[in-house]
Amino acid sequence: MEKMFAVVILYFLICMTGSVFGGDFDMKGQKQVTILLGPPGSGKGTQAVKISRYLGVPHISTGDLFREHLKNGTDLGATAKKYLDSGQLVPDFIVLDMLFDRISKEDCRNGYLLDGFPRTVAQAKALEHRLQKDSSKLAVVNMCVPESEVIRRLEGRLTCKNCGNVQHKEFSPPKNSGVCDKCNGELYQRSDDHLEVIQQRLGEYRRQTAPLIEYYEKRKALSHVDGNQMPETVFNDMVAVLES
Ligand code: AP5
Repeated sequence: MEKMFAVVILYFLICMTGSVFGGDFDMKGQKQVTILLGPPGSGKGTQAVKISRYLGVPHISTGDLFREHLKNGTDLGATAKKYLDSGQLVPDFIVLDMLFDRISKEDCRNGYLLDGFPRTVAQAKALEHRLQKDSSKLAVVNMCVPESEVIRRLEGRLTCKNCGNVQHKEFSPPKNSGVCDKCNGELYQRSDDHLEVIQQRLGEYRRQTAPLIEYYEKRKALSHVDGNQMPETVFNDMVAVLES
């Protein structure tokens, strides 16, 4: 009886220590980290909004974080701008600083969903190191969509300046031209959603990000989902692999 009491006390002490020092111990158990992998335009952002709600964890998009810095006129935003506009990857040390700062926030305590990170093997290794310290549980979902389809999606994508909602000229056309269906904000075409820059982004994906498929396959953390289906079907397939 005394032994059991001691174990219970120890468990609560560990939980509280985690909360004081920002560790990952909590009452609900292991921290769940989910990564959405896939080429530009595969639907990571579209699905991340719903999946993060489903899992009850924050959605963290490194692309959105950079665009937020740009909007707020920060030094980081100014540095990132030339990479975003040309479709190149932002250097690892900048991305890692920004990302690690974000995931150390209180709302990431029980886990988070990463969209657009990692994008290089170096980023994946840095994250792995961090997750080992945290003893977090990792699930990676690779969204498979052919290049011809992602080009169609990106060339027609419309993004809301106000709430970030994503629509498409053809697949989810706004009810009123140029106006966001969700908040009536102004829809715009991202500066990197033009054919020349899209090709550059796809090149970066092939060279630097696609090797992560093998990387996570070797670690037995990867599932594949066919992203070339109706968004609702993609969502259901993702939930199925995450629950399995
Ligand atoms: P980021 O903003 O992350 O862009 P991306 O990875 O290129 O991804 P996208 O946002 O373009 O596409 P998505 O897969 O989210 O598709 P979406 O759901 O919007 O990064 C931008 C830049 O930031 C990078 O180029 C780089 O410079 C920098 N960066 C970011 N992270 C970095 C990192 N870790 N390291 C270094 N640099 C980094 O869907 C696209 C369109 O398709 C939409 O119109 C949508 O409505 C439509 N759609 C979605 N799903 C479907 C479906 N199932 N059927 C039909 N249409 C669909």
